[in-house]
Amino acid sequence: MVAARPDAVNTCQYHQQTVKVDLRESWHIRDVEIPTRLVLAPMAGVSVQAFRRQGRRFGAGLVCSEMVSCAGIEHRNEKTLGYLRVAADEHPLAIQIFGSEPRTMADAARMVEAAGADLVDINFGCPVRKVTKTGAGATLLDDPELACRIVSSVAEAVAVPVSVKMRRGLRDGSRDCLDIGPRLVTAGASVLTLHPRSAQQMYTGTADHNLTAELVDLVDVPVIASGDITSRARAQAVLATTGAAAVMVGRGAQGNPWALREIVDGGDAEPSREEVVAELVLFIRETVRELGERRASGFLKKFYAWYLGRGRFPKPFKQELVVLDSTEEVERRLIAAAPGALELIELLEAELPTGDEVTLALPISAFGGG
Ligand SMILES: Cc1cc2nc3c(=O)[nH]c(=O)nc-3n(C[C@H](O)[C@H](O)[C@H](O)COP(=O)(O)O)c2cc1C
Repeated sequence: MVAARPDAVNTCQYHQQTVKVDLRESWHIRDVEIPTRLVLAPMAGVSVQAFRRQGRRFGAGLVCSEMVSCAGIEHRNEKTLGYLRVAADEHPLAIQIFGSEPRTMADAARMVEAAGADLVDINFGCPVRKVTKTGAGATLLDDPELACRIVSSVAEAVAVPVSVKMRRGLRDGSRDCLDIGPRLVTAGASVLTLHPRSAQQMYTGTADHNLTAELVDLVDVPVIASGDITSRARAQAVLATTGAAAVMVGRGAQGNPWALREIVDGGDAEPSREEVVAELVLFIRETVRELGERRASGFLKKFYAWYLGRGRFPKPFKQELVVLDSTEEVERRLIAAAPGALELIELLEAELPTGDEVTLALPISAFGGG
């Protein structure tokens, strides 16, 4: 077992308030060192490079790309290849691929490795029909033999560790993850992430981390616990009771990187208005650089609500931003609402490693696209 459980658990003296798991402790996936026990979740339509780099700054030890279609990689789709861009300051980074055909997945994994990912992550969890109808994502939990063939052909194709992210099973109450998990490890997975909801549940109900604890007992690789981790108390309780090596945070970090800092270090989770505006402006600038103004302005709209919600700014202000034509105009309004943010933005930008060597000298041209 890689992640030892704290003594308090082993002696059955466990009490949520008193167990302290050090989230700043580093751990390993084979020879890849992960500096904290907090992982930023892969989220389609969210996990752009700007999100991942911000996540690393706020304490995530490992960040993940959103799921990338192996068919898109195979056909050298320009937009898909854009997902393979890796910045120098986001390592360690996992790039996640999805598909249903072992050879195509292996080819995609080679490209992911060449792009600079530290881990290739395989998606066996996506419950969305567009993906499952192609035989990919969570559907593969119903076909363990094919799932294992995918993992072994990917593991044979690359030198970096392979991870698998999965749900508990397809249908409510399923415990299939406990059968398939150890088989995926035998096939070559070096780490498993479990989001213990069924695919049928989508995001309703709660994540049952009793299953995470059972999975930890069954495998000799690290397990990452995903689902409903939104605070330090919850993260520590899940780590302590399951023996997982790390917790993964998804929705809790949307427009709220401060939650990551609170989970890793404790302290106040609520930022000032100036801090919110400074981080959002930086995020806007980075996203425009990454996606271009046209794509970024649509992509960013949901982030305005996420950043400015939680009682931080009045509702009409968010609505005002969403209808503006350009991100420059959004930036002007934000700074007018919290002028003190300007100084913070300068400080943040001065601290960021920038320039070609970080964000622009991308290996993407090697693939002839993007
Ligand atoms: C908008 C959104 C997009 C997601 N996209 C992916 C994805 O591309 N790959 C994946 O493995 N999981 C994806 N997930 C699932 C998350 O990684 C995570 O397992 C799930 O949200 C539970 O964690 P949370 O309660 O911290 O959000 C997505 C979740 C959300 C909310």
